[in-house]
Amino acid sequence: MTDDSSPAYNGPRRILSGIQASGALHLGNYLGALKRFVALQDQGAPVFVFVADLHAITVWQEPEKLTSQTREIAAAYLASGLDPARTIIFPQSAVRAHAELAWVFNCVARLGWLDRMTQFKEKSGKHKERASVGLYTYPVLQAADILLYKATEVPVGEDQKQHLELTRDIAQKFNNDFGAPGFFPLPEPVIQGPATRVMSLRDGQAKMSKSDPSDLSRINLTDDADTIAAKIRKAKTDPEPLPDSLDALGERPEARNLIAIYAALSDQSREQVLAQFAGQGFGAFKPKLAELAVESLAPVTAEMRRLMGDPAEIDRVLRAGAERAAEVADRTVAEVRQIVGFWNG
Ligand code: TYM
Repeated sequence: MTDDSSPAYNGPRRILSGIQASGALHLGNYLGALKRFVALQDQGAPVFVFVADLHAITVWQEPEKLTSQTREIAAAYLASGLDPARTIIFPQSAVRAHAELAWVFNCVARLGWLDRMTQFKEKSGKHKERASVGLYTYPVLQAADILLYKATEVPVGEDQKQHLELTRDIAQKFNNDFGAPGFFPLPEPVIQGPATRVMSLRDGQAKMSKSDPSDLSRINLTDDADTIAAKIRKAKTDPEPLPDSLDALGERPEARNLIAIYAALSDQSREQVLAQFAGQGFGAFKPKLAELAVESLAPVTAEMRRLMGDPAEIDRVLRAGAERAAEVADRTVAEVRQIVGFWNG
């Protein structure tokens, strides 16, 4: 599908992203998403960041845990530096318009488009027929999340790229089918920084993920300093010293990953990190990385723990955010209802 037939959207810039409320956050989420949201907060455009609890239930979630997982993601947002005075932080399910727009988009998206989604194939595994219908239409709900706020920029990790392409396809088909040129923007994925795809510490070819059975494969935001240091010490590497350029790093996926993590944690480029460590082996590099990881994550973890001890504070932020988000979302849904021709007597 091409974008060229759509007249340009000329609404304001808006930034939006979300994280699923489905269990512990890891370093990949922190570097690929959370840290990027904070960096975009100061750009003068409104930022909407939500906890994707509707997405979480596409696979089974214990109801009593879902509430605390929702608060935990909100706590991570706040602890990472998102400021509720500037950024609208809310639970997805609290803004009913997400589900309403998702239904309309279910009737816009084509089966063939969803059949191509690699994440469904990965998550449904060998028993596709036992997966929930929600898991299959998951990317349609994601398109609704984004377009409800007419977001123009969506900061995400590399793994969300295909979902963003689908969002653009849905926006364009809606605009075309309903003769509403430029109604929805075609949002741009913002996949930036040295760590858009943080890999497993045990296998440089696999993404760091909460579903990896080995806890040694990832650093969790709830890990204490000793655990972080131990996981980095045990991370898979190779015996070669570090070279002075990215090109010379060649096909060394584990080494590439650790360099990318160091760069993202220290707000440097990978080239700068290599310049600093060229000629040294992992025996020297790993302790430095462990020190940096502990130093960067400890304040976030501590603040998350404090906030989780004060759920009323989190709930205040989420309630206020949901109210502000609903104002924007309800306006879009009212327009969509009219465009689609729903009764409004
Ligand atoms: P989720 O909850 O799986 O992941 C949240 C964010 O973390 C990024 N991420 C990573 N980045 C770098 N390296 C990794 N190993 C890594 N693992 C995860 C993800 O790319 C993501 O940015 N579908 C989304 C949630 C969502 C959403 C949205 C995002 C729902 N609606 C609308 C943006 C806009 C998801 O499952 O993310």
